[in-house]
Amino acid sequence: MEVVIAPTESIGEIVADDVATLLEAKPHAVIGLATGSSPLRAYDSLADRVERGELSFAEARAFTLDEYVGLPAGHPCSYRSVIHREFVARVDFADGAVTTPDGNAADLDAEAESFDWRIAAAGGVDLQILGIGTHGHIAFNEPGSSLASDTRVKMLTEQTRRDNARFFSDGMDAVPQLCLTQGIATIMRARHILLVATGEGKADAVRALVEGGVSAFRPASILQHHPRVTVVVDPQAASRLVYAEYYSNASERRPSYQT
Ligand code: F6R
Repeated sequence: MEVVIAPTESIGEIVADDVATLLEAKPHAVIGLATGSSPLRAYDSLADRVERGELSFAEARAFTLDEYVGLPAGHPCSYRSVIHREFVARVDFADGAVTTPDGNAADLDAEAESFDWRIAAAGGVDLQILGIGTHGHIAFNEPGSSLASDTRVKMLTEQTRRDNARFFSDGMDAVPQLCLTQGIATIMRARHILLVATGEGKADAVRALVEGGVSAFRPASILQHHPRVTVVVDPQAASRLVYAEYYSNASERRPSYQT
C-alpha cells in the first residue's frame, strides 16, 4: 500500500496523472469510477485535459461502483445521473462505453450477477477510483459486509444515508434504503486501486484502512491484502495516521510504486 499525503488542492491532479499515465500506455483501458464528492477534483482535472486535447477516453471503457435501488430513472441523485453530469458528459467516452448497475432492474440479483460478468468480459478493471465512507465503507459495502462478496443488493446504514442526505433536496427520508453495489471481491479484482479521501471527517476511516486490523467492521481495511493500492489523502484525512511522516518521506523519495 502506498500512502500519498498531499495538499487538498493538488489531490485531483495526482489522481488525474495516474489515469492519464494509464491511458497513454493503454488507450483501451477499463476505468472504475466512483461517485460522491471525493473524486470531483480529479474529474475536473481530467475534463480539462480532454478539453485541451491532451487526453482521450475515446477507446476506454468504464464501470461505476454502485447505484441506489428504486430512484426513478433520471432522478438527479441517481448515481447514473451523477456520474454522467459530473464526468461522463464532460469527456469523450464512446456511446455505451460506461456501464452502471441498474437500480430499477426487475430482477436485481440477476442484474448484480450480470454486472460482474460484464466487468470480466471487458477484461477487468485496470484502475479503480474509490472514495471511503466515514465508517470505512468502499462502494456501498457497509460494515459487516463479506470480504469475499460479489456485486449484490445491500441495505445502507443510517450513517451512510445521513452522510448522503446532503445531496437530496428532501433530506434523509428521500435517501433510498437499498442499493446495488460492487462487492468487495469485485473491487479487489481491479489491477490498481486508487482511494481518495479528504477532510477531518475521513480521518478515523483512513486510520482504520491503513493501520487497523483487517476486518469486515471497517471494510476498506481489506485493501491491505491488495498488491497495488494507492491511498491519496490530504493532511486532514491523514491526521490520525501514526506513520504519517514516514509515508510522506517514502512517497517523496520512492524510486517507483512501493507496496
Ligand atoms: C460512491 C461510493 C461511496 C463513496 C463514499 C465517499 O460511488 O461508492 O463509497 O465513495 O461514500 O463519499 P464522498 O466522496 O461523497 O465522501
